Amino acid sequence: MTTLVIGAGLIGSQVARILVERGEKPVLMDSAAQPAAIGQIVDLAKVTLIVGDVLRPLSIVDVLRSHSIARIAHTAANPLLTLGAQKDPYAAINLNIMGTVNVLEAARVTGLKRVVVSSSSVLNHYLDGGEDGGNFGKEEAFPRPTTFYSATKQAVESLGLNYAKWCGIEFAGLRYGAVFGPWSGAGGGGPSNIIREAMRSALAGKEATVPPGVMEWVYSKDAARGTVLALDTKDLGSGVFNITMGAMTTPNEMAAAIQAVVPGAKVKFEAPAGTGVSLSNRDSHADLSRAKRHLGFEPQFRLQDAVKDLGEWMRRYMG
Ligand SMILES: NC(=O)c1ccc[n+]([C@@H]2O[C@H](COP(=O)([O-])OP(=O)(O)OC[C@H]3O[C@@H](n4cnc5c(N)ncnc54)[C@H](O)[C@@H]3O)[C@@H](O)[C@H]2O)c1
Repeated sequence: MTTLVIGAGLIGSQVARILVERGEKPVLMDSAAQPAAIGQIVDLAKVTLIVGDVLRPLSIVDVLRSHSIARIAHTAANPLLTLGAQKDPYAAINLNIMGTVNVLEAARVTGLKRVVVSSSSVLNHYLDGGEDGGNFGKEEAFPRPTTFYSATKQAVESLGLNYAKWCGIEFAGLRYGAVFGPWSGAGGGGPSNIIREAMRSALAGKEATVPPGVMEWVYSKDAARGTVLALDTKDLGSGVFNITMGAMTTPNEMAAAIQAVVPGAKVKFEAPAGTGVSLSNRDSHADLSRAKRHLGFEPQFRLQDAVKDLGEWMRRYMG
C-alpha cells in the first residue's frame, strides 16, 4: 500500500518519517521540495521524492496511477499560512481550496478511497459572530472565520465532507493546533517560525521572543502521528478531528519551557514584526475526545517534552 504525502514541509516530512520507520516507502510530492531540510527528518533513500503541483489536477491523477497510490495525506498550503494569506489572498484561496479540490477529484476519478487533509485549529480560534446562536433560519447562525486563511480551511472541510457524503471518499480534515517542531527549511506558519527562532536565539545565548498571546500548540511529531492514525483507522467515519496538545499555553509557560532546556535564557514577550493578525480571540482549547474515540489520538508531546525534543534536534542539526 503506497501512501502519497503531498507537501513535504514541517508536517509532511514527519508523516513520511513515521511511514518509513514502519517499513513503507511513501511518495512525497512537493512543488518546491527542500531535499536538504527533508533529509534531516527522513532518510531520502527511503522515500520517493517527486516534484508535483496540486494546481495541476491531471498530474495528480498521473502520480496516483503511476505509483499505485492507495491513500493520500495532503498537507500543502500557502506559504506562511495566516500571514501569507493576508498578504496574497488570491494565491492562498486558489492553492488551499482548488488545490484540495484537485486532490479530492483525482481521488474520485481514480476510485482512491482515503484522503486526509490538513485543516487548522484557526477554525477554533479565528472566529467572530454567530449572533443567531445556531438558528438555521437566520443569517448569522454560526460564527464566521475572520481571516482569509481560516476561510479557506473552512471551505476545505466542507468540500471534503461533501466528497465523503456524495462520492464515497473517506475524508478526514485534521485541525492541527499551531505547529512547531524540527525543520530547517522555509515554510511553516508564523507561529512555527517564531518558536524555532526563539529556540535558536536561546541556544545562541541571545534574547528569545515569544508571542504575547495564549496559544494552542501541537508538536509536529504529534501532528504527523495524528495524520498517520487518520490514514490507518479502519472505520474512519469521515469527519473533522482536533489534533492539538489539548491545552492552551501562556507566554510564561512557553518561556519556562525554553528556560528548562536552556537555563538562564532571556525571553521577551512581543508580537514579531509582520504578525499583523491577533493570535486568537478565544482562550479555551480544542476538545480532543473525538480524535481519541475515532483515531486513538492523544498527544505524546506536552509542552515541556516538545520544547526539549526541539532543543535537542536543533543542537544536533542547526548548530
Ligand atoms: N504550521 C502550522 O502551524 C499549521 C497549523 C495548522 C495547520 N497547518 C496546516 O498543515 C499543513 C502543513 O503545514 P506545514 O506547516 O507543514 O507547512 P509547510 O509550509 O512547512 O509545508 C507545506 C508544503 O507544501 C508545499 N506546496 C506549496 N504549494 C504547493 C503546490 N501547489 N503543490 C505541491 N506542494 C505545494 C510547499 O512547498 C511546502 O513544502 C498546511 O495545510 C497547513 O495549513 C499548519
